[in-house]
Amino acid sequence: MVDINIVNAVPEKGFLDLPVSPDLDLFAEIEKLKKEKNAIVLAHYYQEADIQDIADYIGDSLGLAQAAEKTDADIIVFAGVHFMAETAKILNPNKKVLLPDLNAGCSLSDSAPPALFADFKKAHPDHLVISYINCSAGIKALSDIICTSSNAEKIVSTIPDDQPIIFAPDRNLGAYLNKKTGRNMLLWNGACMVHEIFSIEKLLKLKAQYPNAKILAHPECEEALLKHADYIGSTTALLKYSTADSADTYIVATETGILHQMMKNAPDKTFIPAPPDNSCACNDCPHMKLNTLEKLYLCMKHEIPEITMDEQLRLAALKPIQRMLDISAQFGL
Ligand code: 13P
Ligand code: SF4
Repeated sequence: MVDINIVNAVPEKGFLDLPVSPDLDLFAEIEKLKKEKNAIVLAHYYQEADIQDIADYIGDSLGLAQAAEKTDADIIVFAGVHFMAETAKILNPNKKVLLPDLNAGCSLSDSAPPALFADFKKAHPDHLVISYINCSAGIKALSDIICTSSNAEKIVSTIPDDQPIIFAPDRNLGAYLNKKTGRNMLLWNGACMVHEIFSIEKLLKLKAQYPNAKILAHPECEEALLKHADYIGSTTALLKYSTADSADTYIVATETGILHQMMKNAPDKTFIPAPPDNSCACNDCPHMKLNTLEKLYLCMKHEIPEITMDEQLRLAALKPIQRMLDISAQFGL
């Protein structure tokens, strides 16, 4: 029996752990809840396959922010991590935004605590701040423009050459952009735990085993890996490339969730996850994978955990996000 008070409570563990009957058809139940509540499920490519399959929209960080901006649903269920759901809330103050597990954070976002970043920014008062969307609302509020891996290069290109820039929080994406654009942006020293786990030695051994395979890599990876990549791009860009390209085998250096869509789009091709530097499943993002179909169902049923935000913080964080969305629209992204 569910305690009635649970409906208004933020679950202590960050997610509801009520028993779910194994006889329940969760796919059917979630579809029913979507209709009853006018709810939309947005899922990142790094979610488990079942969640991707039940989602109304699957995408990368930019696509998800754009989908959140456009939706007329009353409830946005965000199957992703906290900063993504927070971005959806910033764009939709009057909608209910749910995250199946509030503990689904992000190591990259955590690598930039707002108080420390505020000091860093103060020490460079002439710099404009471009922040990767993988950061907290507090960092967004301290930023001039947000970017994602899909639009970062274009966003940087809109800034006059003589304008000094701070890029935060991902040092790897920042270094990649500096190389591509010839800029010398000042980089915050943050990184994603998943994209730094790959072993170059094992990658090269795998490449020797599959000499015709193309290496696909996300720009959150370190330069030492990126230099071996045949193609570098956001999750959406990697997916599009692998679908359209003529090779038959790919070694994929990003979180393994994307392989689900890659295999769906090109069932005759072979996709191999790039190997981590030990035998763990470390290229599964532990934060993304906290969401499960059961938690998704429970969160839709009880409408918790919900993302809430101070209005002043929301307005400050909205400005640089809106600037990103406007620039992306100008470039047709
Ligand atoms: P994109 O969604 O922009 O490809 O970024 C990947 C990522 O790490 C999201 O957390
Ligand atoms: Fe954060 Fe990395 Fe996980 Fe993406 S893959 S959510 S950047 S920890």
